[in-house]
Amino acid sequence: MGKRRFLLRLYAANLMILVGSLLAVTWYASLAIDELSHQHVARDLERDAQSVGWAVAHVPFPMLAEKVDPLCKRLGKTPFNRITVILPDGKVIGDSQADPRYMADCKYRPEVKEALLGGTGVARQPTDTRGSETVHVAVPVQNNGKVFAVVRTSTFRRTLNEIDAAMRFRIVVIGIFVAAVGAGLRLILYRVASREELRALGARLSQSQEAERQRVSRDLHDQLGQLITSLGVNLHLVKAAVPPSSAPDASAPLTRAIGQVEQIGEQLREVIYDLHPPVLQEYGLEAALRWCAERLRKSADIKVHVQCDGADLRLADEIETSLLRICQEALTNVSKHACASEASIRLQKLPAVLRLTVSDDGKGFDAKTRKAPNAKMGWGLITMRERALAMGGSLRLESAPGKGTRVIVDVPR
Ligand SMILES: Nc1ncnc2c1ncn2[C@@H]1O[C@H](COP(=O)(O)OP(=O)(O)OP(=O)(O)O)[C@@H](O)[C@H]1O
Ligand SMILES: [Mg+2]
Repeated sequence: MGKRRFLLRLYAANLMILVGSLLAVTWYASLAIDELSHQHVARDLERDAQSVGWAVAHVPFPMLAEKVDPLCKRLGKTPFNRITVILPDGKVIGDSQADPRYMADCKYRPEVKEALLGGTGVARQPTDTRGSETVHVAVPVQNNGKVFAVVRTSTFRRTLNEIDAAMRFRIVVIGIFVAAVGAGLRLILYRVASREELRALGARLSQSQEAERQRVSRDLHDQLGQLITSLGVNLHLVKAAVPPSSAPDASAPLTRAIGQVEQIGEQLREVIYDLHPPVLQEYGLEAALRWCAERLRKSADIKVHVQCDGADLRLADEIETSLLRICQEALTNVSKHACASEASIRLQKLPAVLRLTVSDDGKGFDAKTRKAPNAKMGWGLITMRERALAMGGSLRLESAPGKGTRVIVDVPR
């Protein structure tokens, strides 16, 4: 995945989490917003009531009944704002909407009772079942510390509760769902990215390992190889210069030394070849696999069948090298652990993948318990799997005690 695509998807996931979380808290958010708006309305009403109270306090007492009602009617103009002035005995002397005589039970209202005690009373009165309400605020009008009237202001207000509760529940559920999907997406994105990073790291490691092997093989060939060759030549020269009759004691050790040098040369050639098999570059994967099989046959006396379905197949160098290395390790395991009499290497071109299978008829092992790294475990299986992952492919191990072993590597074509 490209960096740009990764970032775009990450932003999308973050946005989903944000929007989803916002929706998920709609319920509580709406309650909190509603409370704030209620307090705001109540503050406004209290301010209005205070100003009316100030005006009422300045009306001479005998003129209260005649002056206050017109004042209320003038100030409480809109149908939703109502101003009422009540005396401590419950008598309504001013009302912006109705004739004051019809407000008989006024002094029993909680906000009025509170104001009669000298405080500010606030009350909410639902006006219908869908959440509209009337807010009442009552403040005392005092003279010499005594409450002689109460001003009550009221207004109608639509609350957020009007959004149907079922609908709010649905929004919350959708919000939680969207946020959860966003979080899941984020998790997957990070997992994929770290897997891709690991794969890239594995590929780089394999490449540098191959480069290092190539360098070591070249150095061995150019330096040690030439020294051994010249040592062999010199020993031959010595042997020619010293006839066996003139130094009978030296003749046998000299011949042995020549044989040993030849052996060392032979083994060195093997090591050099193993480190960097030229057959792969020159003749391709199939020839290299056949060379592996031949080596196992010679070294461990195990019959190895090779079957390649894609003889014409040429793959990228790194892939061919990785497949060869996996095959080498699998065959080494066969010779080291399997006690097999036969093994086989198969390369198949399947519709979506190229498959390499190395199997044997040996004693097998419990593939599951060998999976977790522990002190006794070798590196062979781990590096095989890492190589397969680095190619963007996968490795499967099929084995059970007494049932032989199959290593199956799939590489995307
Ligand atoms: N073809 C096989 N047949 C039977 N047992 C096997 C086979 N391949 C692997 N195993 C078992 O799995 C174990 C792990 O193999 P792995 O290649 O990881 O380590 P190793 O060969 O012991 O050491 P290393 O490969 O590091 O030299 C082996 O010790 C062996 O017990
Ligand atoms: Mg091994």
